[in-house]
Amino acid sequence: MKALITAGGRGTRLRPITSTSNKHLIPIANKPMLFYAIEAVAEAGIREIGIVFGPESHAAISGAIAPYARQGLRFTLMIQDAPRGLAHVVKLAEPFVAGEPFVLYLGDNLMTQEVRKCIQQFEAQRVNCLLMLAKVHDPQRFGVAELSGGRVARVVEKPANPKSPYAVTGLYCYDRSIFEAVSAIHPSARGELEISDAHQYLIDHGYAVGYTEVSGWWKDTGKPEDLLEANRLILTQRDRIAIAGTLGGG
Ligand code: TTP
Repeated sequence: MKALITAGGRGTRLRPITSTSNKHLIPIANKPMLFYAIEAVAEAGIREIGIVFGPESHAAISGAIAPYARQGLRFTLMIQDAPRGLAHVVKLAEPFVAGEPFVLYLGDNLMTQEVRKCIQQFEAQRVNCLLMLAKVHDPQRFGVAELSGGRVARVVEKPANPKSPYAVTGLYCYDRSIFEAVSAIHPSARGELEISDAHQYLIDHGYAVGYTEVSGWWKDTGKPEDLLEANRLILTQRDRIAIAGTLGGG
């Protein structure tokens, strides 16, 4: 099993921070967001990681991940010429994936130890694609999965009247059928190859799209207030602070 992590995109909702820095290198609790994604997949036992980003981020990303490469993770860095959508990211990564099943992890998503569960469920359900879902209060803000008979029956982007409380998070498992889907779909009205359209293609063409639900919390850090919330979530889950020294009294 390999992992593909996204670290491209425009980051328009986080301007001006993203005017000078790649969104995925913004620190959350003092650690670049991208590191959480790398650690999440490494913790699930994955050693081969592909990272996709725009041409302007090459030096910053390759420099940032160097310590992980020294720890034995093998990285393949892929440049996306422009943010053409998540399904375009998958298309770009076909040579890296080389026919193996793989995990797609959106690098601006934070969640607790869900990658292992995603892989386990993908294998146990024997599906072509597995979507990690989260129950939310405001599904109209997200891609929403409608479920039927233990499978995903439909994926609707930001529906005005959601028929399900399950948002599609930024964690997915695929077999090679996803490459048929990303090659068959067309750009959406906003000019991107949408991953939701690829998922819907799989459903419409008889592939099995399974799901499971996050056990812990999930945070998509698209907006400035999400960054604050993500900091809070990470800091509150730390049960103690290590003090590497002696505390002196006055
Ligand atoms: P989004 O949050 O959907 O898009 P964005 O990062 O461009 O932000 P904004 O909407 O504020 O402009 O992207 C989700 C993840 O996918 C994130 O990790 C960025 C990444 N991504 C790519 O790597 N390539 C792409 O073409 C797109 C659209 C996103």
